[in-house]
Amino acid sequence: MTTHFSYPEPALQEELRRIANAIVRPGHGILAADESTGTMGKRLQAIGAENTEENRRKYRQLLFTSDKELASYVSGVILYHETLYQKADDGTPFVDLIKRMGIIPGIKVDQGVVPLMGSEEESTTQGLDDLGKRCAQYKKDGCDFAKWRCVLKIGANTPSFHAIAENANVLARYASICQMNGLVPIVEPEVLMDGAHDLERAQKVTEVVLAFTYKALSDHHVFLEGSLLKPNMVLAGQSCPKKYTPQQAAEATVLALSRTVPPAMPGVCFLSGGQSEEEATVHLDAINRTTIAKKPWALTFSYGRALQASAIKAWGAKEAQVKAGQEELLKRARANSQASLGQYAAGTVSGAAGQQGLFVKNHQY
Ligand code: 13P
Repeated sequence: MTTHFSYPEPALQEELRRIANAIVRPGHGILAADESTGTMGKRLQAIGAENTEENRRKYRQLLFTSDKELASYVSGVILYHETLYQKADDGTPFVDLIKRMGIIPGIKVDQGVVPLMGSEEESTTQGLDDLGKRCAQYKKDGCDFAKWRCVLKIGANTPSFHAIAENANVLARYASICQMNGLVPIVEPEVLMDGAHDLERAQKVTEVVLAFTYKALSDHHVFLEGSLLKPNMVLAGQSCPKKYTPQQAAEATVLALSRTVPPAMPGVCFLSGGQSEEEATVHLDAINRTTIAKKPWALTFSYGRALQASAIKAWGAKEAQVKAGQEELLKRARANSQASLGQYAAGTVSGAAGQQGLFVKNHQY
């Protein structure tokens, strides 16, 4: 029979389901700290520090030696390969520090975006070669989930069928390889905020991208209960002249998800995508409050910039300011935890980065 296949063994299903559900349990989300060496360099440059392995280690140490209250809001942290094998000053591997706090370590396994020939500056994401081997090793070394980011751009002729189909397929191959190795795949098709498009266009593009993605996941027999989705929120383009309220963005986001994402998948963990810290929190809160459509999944955060902007600024690469950086991280994580429950009061948490926009054109991770 052409549709014949086997589901994963019951023990593997149970393991994947347990990890995915633990990550998106109520009031919890993900700290995305998987910036590549190049991206981390830009973050360090902004605070006047050099992009050395030691400075990257010191900054990540700040994150992972935060007060254990962090684990009340953050259930998972995404690491970059280098960070997974780094240690704190006292010799404790970071991965042990994270697990001791009760937080689940995860790992970025994609190897960055590459151009698609013949397209209008569209891309796919590379890293499938050896992925099975790398996943097996990461699982042994303490990781329970993985992330792979694909990027789609809105333009007059984009995203193209070519880019949408290719990125959906590569996400599905990645997800299937992760699951074979006991890692919960976070499936990330990011529609960028770049452009002047309005909210309606962003919604339609997101719907099409998600529909292709879930068709591909089905074609590849991905076990949805043991996977997570990391999408963009539906927002108007960064340079769109028309402004929308958080409620309008939340409704567009939830409608897009409700039309395309199966209820078998347990949690949606949004990326922040260039929103300011406060915007990302307010939008997540509005998403959790809206009643525009059914919401059969957890709706939470997996923020990089919107969780770390104030923390890194307050730290400023100064030993004496480690605590100040950690307090900023904790404040923002608490605010996003509240937002994931629809209980955040806008404007009640302000940070060192203030309302500063975190948009980066054609963002590379
Ligand atoms: P931002 O929240 O900074 O968009 O990053 C999240 C992420 O992991 C992108 O892949």
